[in-house]
Amino acid sequence: MIPKECKRLAEVDFPIAVVSKHSAREKSIRHGHPSTLHLWWARRPLAACRAMLMALLLPDPCDAECPEEFRAAARNTLLGKHGHPRRWESEVCTAEGLRKALLEFIGDFANWDNSANTDYLAVARALIKAAHPDETPLVVDPFAGGGSIPLEALRLGCEAFASDLNPVACLKVMLEDIPRHGPELAEELRRVGGEIKKQAEKELAEFYPKDPDGAVPIAYLWARTVRCESPNCGAEIPLMRSFWLCKKANRKRALRYRIIKPSPSGRGCREAAGEGYHGPHVLPKEHLEFARSLRKQQTDAETKMWYLLRDRRLAGRKFRRQHAFPPYVIDFYCHEASLVIEIDGGQHTEQRRYDEARTKHLEERGLKVLRFWNNEVLQDTEAVLESIWNDLQSPSPPTPLPEGEGSVPRVEFEVFEPKNEKEVPDGTVTRAKATCLCCNIVLPPERVRAQLSEQRGGADVIFDPSPRPSPKGRGRSAEQECLRL
Ligand SMILES: C[S@@+](CC[C@H](N)C(=O)[O-])C[C@H]1O[C@@H](n2cnc3c(N)ncnc32)[C@H](O)[C@@H]1O
Ligand SMILES: [Zn+2]
Repeated sequence: MIPKECKRLAEVDFPIAVVSKHSAREKSIRHGHPSTLHLWWARRPLAACRAMLMALLLPDPCDAECPEEFRAAARNTLLGKHGHPRRWESEVCTAEGLRKALLEFIGDFANWDNSANTDYLAVARALIKAAHPDETPLVVDPFAGGGSIPLEALRLGCEAFASDLNPVACLKVMLEDIPRHGPELAEELRRVGGEIKKQAEKELAEFYPKDPDGAVPIAYLWARTVRCESPNCGAEIPLMRSFWLCKKANRKRALRYRIIKPSPSGRGCREAAGEGYHGPHVLPKEHLEFARSLRKQQTDAETKMWYLLRDRRLAGRKFRRQHAFPPYVIDFYCHEASLVIEIDGGQHTEQRRYDEARTKHLEERGLKVLRFWNNEVLQDTEAVLESIWNDLQSPSPPTPLPEGEGSVPRVEFEVFEPKNEKEVPDGTVTRAKATCLCCNIVLPPERVRAQLSEQRGGADVIFDPSPRPSPKGRGRSAEQECLRL
């Protein structure tokens, strides 16, 4: 038993540099790491937990109150009783040498490569046993989250008690139950997981309201915003240095936007083109008739495609065929996903320039255009459907217009997969200036700062004259732009 007066090792020293190095490396470990088993936020590195637990559980051998039995048992352990290399032979005879050897062991054991080594585990457990010969220490973690601390405590031979406010985190009973129950645990976890998911969905529903088409957002992106001060504009400017979301080679994602202009009456907004042309009543009559006539003269490929897309048959998305989008009529159009599908026949080789202009026109209005040849649709139907399906996986449904904002233009964002840098629009903030996406007017730094100061939460965004990495996690308190995903 370690007397209360005796300091623990962590109170006098800790191999911070070594443990930090191993902790940093652990971030890139995939195989065998619990983080690949289940996601948790702010999960602490196992290396740091293991090292700190040991340093807290062992007494400082230099402390006058440190039991001599511990010193002797620790010496024996470090000298190879458990098969560990006799690295510390000359050092451990003094208390200082023993302290140094213990710290060195803790540092080495933080290395991922040694973490499951049976020699290291045996030495660690023996040291803890030597410090607590009469009873197994109990490690309590009331904020256990992903369970790093209790997991390491169990591995070190301690008992562990873990709890968390979040019921999902409490599923960590797995730690004990996996060895106890084996494979049938998987079924039980699936059942309990299903129940927790159902309950969580119910409780969180109010924060994730469904879109008109029934789609549920899975996350929100936030940015501080300021108002454009141009008298003819007044749009909200999200303060974002870049619209890139992910630059990883196989997961490139960015934001693009379209401007929704206010309607002439000021009572609602109308997409620069598109949304306003949704209902037949706003369409010129001749366009409607043209679209109607095209519908009757469908090619075989169009007929087949319509058969596959109609009635929300693909990914539950609603498609329209021969949709009037002045000055064009689009073959197939999914408004929810801002997606245009064009089926080209042989004659389109001559029409390439016309098609390019048409594609440009549609893309400038925030629509994604997919083109397929007639014979692709007829002969390689699965590949065509797969490519449409893939595109529909990251759609951004139009956000309903917030009340009272119908008199100023606004910007609507969507996530997309850029093919190159050029496709990604510039961010709104350079240095401390903010550029309005609707009218391109630049708000000078003092106006940006003044607006932020007036907002609840204050001007807590870093706006240095020199460019810096984005102020992650800061300034999410007041006027915010929210993008539904
Ligand atoms: C930083 S995380 C812990 C991470 C953990 N050490 C790991 O390595 O995975 C903090 C945890 O505290 C939990 N928490 C916050 N407030 C709490 C409270 N009042 N009672 C219990 N748990 C709480 C959160 O749900 C979260 O899982
Ligand atoms: Zn503006």
